[in-house]
Amino acid sequence: MISKKNPTKSAFWEKLSIKAQELNNSSVSELFEQEPNRFDKFSIQTDDILIDFSKNLIDEKVIDLLIELAKDSNLKSSIDQLFNGDPINETEGRSVLHTALRNFSDEPVFENGVNVMPNIFGVLDQMEEISDKLNSGTWRGYSDKPITDVVNIGIGGSDLGPRMVTQALKPYSDNISPHFISNIDSSDIIETLKNLNPETTIFIIVSKSFTTQETSANAKSALDWYLKSGDEESIGSHFIAVTANRNKAADLGIPEKNILEFWEWVGGRYSLWSSAGLAISITLGHNNFKELLKGANLMDLHFKNSAFEANAPVILGLLGIWYINFWDAHSFAILPYDQSLKEFPAYLQQVDMESNGKSVDRSGEKINYPTGPVIWGEPGTNGQHAFYQLIHQGTQLIPCDFLAPAITQNPLKNHHHLLLANFFAQSQALMNGKSETEVRMELKKQNLSEDQINFLAPFKVFNGNKPSNSILYNKLTPKTLGQLIALYEHKIFVQGIIWNIFSFDQWGVELGKQLAKEILPELENNDRISTHDSSTNGLINRFKLWMRK
Ligand code: F6P
Repeated sequence: MISKKNPTKSAFWEKLSIKAQELNNSSVSELFEQEPNRFDKFSIQTDDILIDFSKNLIDEKVIDLLIELAKDSNLKSSIDQLFNGDPINETEGRSVLHTALRNFSDEPVFENGVNVMPNIFGVLDQMEEISDKLNSGTWRGYSDKPITDVVNIGIGGSDLGPRMVTQALKPYSDNISPHFISNIDSSDIIETLKNLNPETTIFIIVSKSFTTQETSANAKSALDWYLKSGDEESIGSHFIAVTANRNKAADLGIPEKNILEFWEWVGGRYSLWSSAGLAISITLGHNNFKELLKGANLMDLHFKNSAFEANAPVILGLLGIWYINFWDAHSFAILPYDQSLKEFPAYLQQVDMESNGKSVDRSGEKINYPTGPVIWGEPGTNGQHAFYQLIHQGTQLIPCDFLAPAITQNPLKNHHHLLLANFFAQSQALMNGKSETEVRMELKKQNLSEDQINFLAPFKVFNGNKPSNSILYNKLTPKTLGQLIALYEHKIFVQGIIWNIFSFDQWGVELGKQLAKEILPELENNDRISTHDSSTNGLINRFKLWMRK
């Protein structure tokens, strides 16, 4: 059982509050003047990733205090419990074993006294066989044509991970093109299937529960679409299911041999490493899928074995806590200077916000301190021309992670230098800002009058002192991407432990689902609705009126 300690009761919490007030009177650029070697002090190099956290509102004392807070929260023993397969997802009574999915050592991992590794390797073999058969053209559609397209039908964790990874690693894709259908909105499935041929398309229905409304409806519609051309006997050539609920998948007509195990101990948002990643294995080839797992395993080992001072997920987690709990930051921007990572912010939104969007602690008590931030972002440089204005000159403090590869997947003339120049410039601009003196000098050089300078100067000043991490990686390979994803998974774990919340359940998504189920029959009759509040009644009744016209 993970310990249950209110972090605000730790002596280090109070010390951190005092330290934040102290640092409020200085700036990061001043700290650089005082400590020119901040980069060496405040950066961590893991296998293929360099994390520079020197442009933060921190000094050595802050890091020491944050680490003491982590120790006080029993972080080390919590990490051990995660890797050991202890049932740390207490509200669902489950272990949390996504790290076992990428464990290629001979070491057993136990869940309820049973070694899970043989089953994991068994499913990996099944995935490899499917992927190889499809890629070699041995697996053929009902009309004996090779498969050219794979459609992943799933939502949330059964969609976002494979979607993000196949997009990020496009240059590694081979014969089979990936497609994703997640939304219950019929536009999603209709627009996706429009250009596909049922003879050469295979569907993977990914749903741990196999009761998710969106996925069930989309799977049935995909089956209808398929059966307009193919027949029931050939469903096995075109449909695979990935689920912990085999019976439900079989009810849909999917043959037993095409149903891959999705274990209860894999959280949806941590599942791309499991059979839920089948679309990745098929699209990129199974060896590349294994490279992704091996990359994640490198980060697992780093997280498990490194001292907190040199532990990248621990430091990133602690810095998040520093800003959220001591500097009143409410959101956190993920800014990849890597177009291949364009889905990464959306992917991290689920991992982070579904994990740490909690307001009750591990003892069931209401929390009186902020927990998970709003996660958002867009690739640079697009974001620069959209929302960076607010980060630079708005009133909120928004810590940012800048991410960039040293080597691009797609070289073209000097594009990558142009991109990286922006990557380096933005974190510098956020930190240093531009003083009034500098602004006035610039305007003077433009031969403006004193009145014009007095008018313009206040608008052109940048206060700076905006914190960021710069995460530079070698090249976005499957192995590097595995490391990056695991880095954030563990960062989120660290924060959940310190905030004394359960990061592996998601009860908050249930209420809306329940209400939608109650409302659905009301939309399917002609009665005027009066059972809800006047807003909901008014909206439903107008919807029904317009539907009838
Ligand atoms: O509604 C939230 C959620 O339960 C996510 O946690 C999960 O990733 C998603 O729905 C899909 O669930 P399933 O794989 O059971 O269809």
